[in-house]
Amino acid sequence: MDFELKTLDWAGAANEKGDALVVLVEEGFKPGADALSRLAADAIKSKVFEAKPGKTLQAWRPADIASPRVILAGCGDGSARRVHAAVHAVAASLRSAAVRRLVVCLPREAGAHAVRAAVAAAAEASYVYTSTKSKPESREIEKVVIGCADAAACQDDFTAARGAATGIELARELGNLPPNMATPTRLGEEAKRMAKAGGFQCEVLGPKEVAKAGMGSFMAVAQGSEEPLRFIVLKYQGAAASEAPVVVIGKGITFDSGGISIKPAPEMDEMKFDMGGAASVLGTFRALAELKPALNVVGLIPACENMPSGRAFKPGDVVTSLSGQTIEVLNTDAEGRLILCDALSYAERFKPRAVIDIATLTGACVIALGGVRSGLFCSDEGLAQALQSAGEVALDPCWRMPLDEEYGESLKSNFADVANVGGRPAGAVTAAKFLQRFAGKAPWAHLDIAGTAWKGGAAKGATGRPVGLLVQYLLGQAQHRPAPVPKAGKAADRASKAARPAAKRDKPARAARSRATAQGGARGT
Ligand code: BES
Ligand code: MN
Ligand code: ZN
Repeated sequence: MDFELKTLDWAGAANEKGDALVVLVEEGFKPGADALSRLAADAIKSKVFEAKPGKTLQAWRPADIASPRVILAGCGDGSARRVHAAVHAVAASLRSAAVRRLVVCLPREAGAHAVRAAVAAAAEASYVYTSTKSKPESREIEKVVIGCADAAACQDDFTAARGAATGIELARELGNLPPNMATPTRLGEEAKRMAKAGGFQCEVLGPKEVAKAGMGSFMAVAQGSEEPLRFIVLKYQGAAASEAPVVVIGKGITFDSGGISIKPAPEMDEMKFDMGGAASVLGTFRALAELKPALNVVGLIPACENMPSGRAFKPGDVVTSLSGQTIEVLNTDAEGRLILCDALSYAERFKPRAVIDIATLTGACVIALGGVRSGLFCSDEGLAQALQSAGEVALDPCWRMPLDEEYGESLKSNFADVANVGGRPAGAVTAAKFLQRFAGKAPWAHLDIAGTAWKGGAAKGATGRPVGLLVQYLLGQAQHRPAPVPKAGKAADRASKAARPAAKRDKPARAARSRATAQGGARGT
């Protein structure tokens, strides 16, 4: 789907021809002399429409308006959240309504946050899963024109939201793929394909390399499955090689049966989404390839299945992690932390400036926070605040959870350095306390996305969260990084587009090539 940002007042919106025009009306709006104002003021006066959230009115071929189908949508106070809800509802209702070009006119006072919300909502609502349907629903909306009061002032936010939307969509698509298709091998292949198209590096380790590296805990989880494990290493270099990277680690359990501590049958199919952390890392890299911010990012994805079999690991087994710490496995269903701990140790070799792991880690987090906010566990104030505010801006919010030392006490083991589960109380916190033992010196954060990575019930499907939060955080880090040492660029390079990664300025041909393929890839997914 293609987006365009334009400066449009209501008179301009009336002249902008689309198959449908959505006009967001905030409470207390002052009508002007244009056709849309007349329509809205008349509808409000006649009590057929209100500017309250959730209220809409459709008109067919109203006078003096270029688009044949006009939808007035109430957006209350005009906040980003209300804009998101209004655009989402209207775009969803227009999904199979022969609307190819949609014009969205934001409330008059709306700024950059509303632009972001509109882009995110339109992308989210128009996504259709097609991969494994024999007669897939077609995606009709091709172009969304967003009209706001000052397009130039909102351009950066618009670009960021559009980049994030591509990443979110990739994460949703990978998450929704069935577990017989989204295997660790397939994730590795997707990562390689994306890296090639997006101009970043990717290395995929298999069982032999992982054994050689010493990831005994990760290997234990994978050993019960016929599917071979993969450890995916992604490297996006947007700044000088000497700059410390941010490392993002995604839990890639492509199916979590629970293993020998097997899960009950109801809803077990949803454990295909247990690679939501991995999908969010891949989605984030997809967005990085498009937005090309000036920073370095490493992505790590331990990917495997958690299955019961004669070769599976068992409750009582003691495994040795890459860190050297021994772990007593008391429950094979607490497998996420067992693959993440080795990835956290592996992250240290990159001497990172921050490490963030993302995981559908605990049912307890779903009970604590539901599907609204992801759980944030973080021992560093600066990092916690940066992630929290990125979540608010991207409308992909998280909530800080505690990490008091006392919560770690239930992980004591008589037979190893640590046990992989505590008791039932504060299950999301004890899981985080387990991970914290493996985090290195760099500021570390853990996002438990068990409640936010997918929706159940009739709307079952991956959400692509927290790609929005991660992309926003990383763009912020690119702005606040140490100033680069200036280098003389070549004339041809200077003539090309701005906002180019510093490290690639020396290699204009390669950078231009990778940019071109990145755009080509955008149409492929
Ligand atoms: N993948 C699950 C977490 C999960 C459960 C996510 C339900 C979303 C919905 C994880 O591997 C798991 O099974 N965790 C256990 C941990 C327990 C054994 C300490 C859980 O939460 O029940
Ligand atoms: Mn599990
Ligand atoms: Zn799991």
